[in-house]
Amino acid sequence: MRTNYNGELTKENLGQQVKLFGWVNKIRKLGGLIFIDLRDTSGISQIVVKPETSFYDLAQSITNESVLEVDGVVVLRENPNLKIKTGEIEVNATDIKVLSKAEALPIDKNSSDENKLKYRYLDLRREELQDTFKTKTKVLEVVRNYFNKNRFVECETPILCKSTPEGARDYLVPSRVFNGEFYALPQSPQILKQLLMVAGFDRYYQIAKCFRDEDLRADRQPEFTQIDVEMSFMEQDEILTVLEGMIKEVFDKVLGVKLVTPFPRMKWDDAIYNYGSDKPDTRFGLKFEHLEDVFKDVDSPLFNSKTIVGFRVADINNVFTRKKFDELTEFIKHHGGSNLLYLKNQAGTVSGSIVKLLNDDILSKLNLADKEVLFLTTGDNYLKSCNALGSLRKRLGEELDLIDKNMYDFKWVVEFPLFELAQDGSITSSHHPFTRPLKEHEKFLLTDPLKVYSYAYDMVAFGYELGGGSLRIYDRDIQSKVFQVLNISKEDQMAKFGYLLDAMKYGFPPHGGAAFGLERLMMVLTGRDNIRDVILFPKTTTAQDLMLDCPSSVDEAQLKELGIKVDL
Ligand code: AMO
Repeated sequence: MRTNYNGELTKENLGQQVKLFGWVNKIRKLGGLIFIDLRDTSGISQIVVKPETSFYDLAQSITNESVLEVDGVVVLRENPNLKIKTGEIEVNATDIKVLSKAEALPIDKNSSDENKLKYRYLDLRREELQDTFKTKTKVLEVVRNYFNKNRFVECETPILCKSTPEGARDYLVPSRVFNGEFYALPQSPQILKQLLMVAGFDRYYQIAKCFRDEDLRADRQPEFTQIDVEMSFMEQDEILTVLEGMIKEVFDKVLGVKLVTPFPRMKWDDAIYNYGSDKPDTRFGLKFEHLEDVFKDVDSPLFNSKTIVGFRVADINNVFTRKKFDELTEFIKHHGGSNLLYLKNQAGTVSGSIVKLLNDDILSKLNLADKEVLFLTTGDNYLKSCNALGSLRKRLGEELDLIDKNMYDFKWVVEFPLFELAQDGSITSSHHPFTRPLKEHEKFLLTDPLKVYSYAYDMVAFGYELGGGSLRIYDRDIQSKVFQVLNISKEDQMAKFGYLLDAMKYGFPPHGGAAFGLERLMMVLTGRDNIRDVILFPKTTTAQDLMLDCPSSVDEAQLKELGIKVDL
């Protein structure tokens, strides 16, 4: 029986006979002695094998990463290593058994991402990854405790479900019993948690698995986890208070960081106006200036645009060369902007792509400081121009190292538009069709829907949307108007959401909630910028699991049972 964990032996254990298990982290021979660093989940102990032992030959043949059982006595080290907790002691081996001999590992720290994912169970042996998942356990403990003590009921909703309204593509599961029919894996438990409010649960939470077939990015995986919450009879501010209380407790208990609540509220309109993003990173400046008035008399088609927006940045290290401007122009166009204009003041001389068009009066109004660069974009689509410039702002914030890494910029972005225009010009929900419009905007629903804002909110930090939610519609008339705007026919409404619409007839409480991306929260907590680093078995950007080798084909017999013919 194991007596101790390797990483926990200290001088307190001197003289004790111990039995240890673990992997060979490193093995070396020095002056006839063999030193083995034996690793387990808690850390490392140094094992010493002396030449006179009966297992000395065996010890010489031990390979890295083999699994050992070691008996020994804890003694003081001659040369202590104060960098590690167990560095003052070592274990004098009295017996060693090789429980599993390891071949040379197929990956090391320089291996490609693909190879590391293929052998993820080996990559997971790294201490920093192990630590991440220990932190995750702690986060979940704090989250559960917080909700449990605040009268929430933890509920599990089904995975074999029907399509949910989050707007991504569904993962489908074919039915064997009803050939040609499918379950959908939940994109979120949205409707089910609303039904739990109808059922009278009052306060619900769930650590919920969600599945979305969408384009993947550094903060998106096809399979992820939500801390999902719903509450009845609560105003928006009461809900935000409960939710930020949870985040505050997580940061306090896990990192010892005291976040100040209430988090600032920033209206969506202001987020776009000032930062060109609905999830602005406010750990650095580069705030927008709207300069339509300054440029209104410039005689050039460029400045006839409805939107002229920019920000200034100090070019301290002279990084903005002509080549760099060209590169950034390509970047902003790639992000939907129509152009990138710039002016640069170098010791009193202003240069740049548009300087010839501007008179002294305009230049003095712009009042560029020495070494200051003003970036501008113009266009007739306000949102597109702001968003494109917002992407540039984010890039430069990172590239120029302007981000204050010690700052926690938690905030709520509130009052999102209820609808947005899709690429094809149709109207879609910004959040989902059950989001409640602002009371004072209900009157515009059918006449001017794009003017309607909503009780929707996102929690944003470090430029990530950590969570989002809304108050829900509980009035059937409003709900039917929203469907009308979205051009969803009565039949489609019933086919897709009939059970929720039915439930509206039977005593439907006002309610609202939100869901946090557990992995995004973990990214912020552990300072990672790729979601893969906080998921045990992540998928590639093409949604493949390289270790399990899936998706993969299945037997003809299986397909037959499901009534499926593959037509490639
Ligand atoms: P939403 O779609 O905004 O809202 O999702 C909530 C949160 O889930 C996280 N998230 C993701 N994390 C990783 N990979 C993904 N592909 C991914 N997609 C979303 C984000 C996001 O803020 N039912 C509503 C919530 C509600 O209204 O209560 C919903 O799912 O952190």
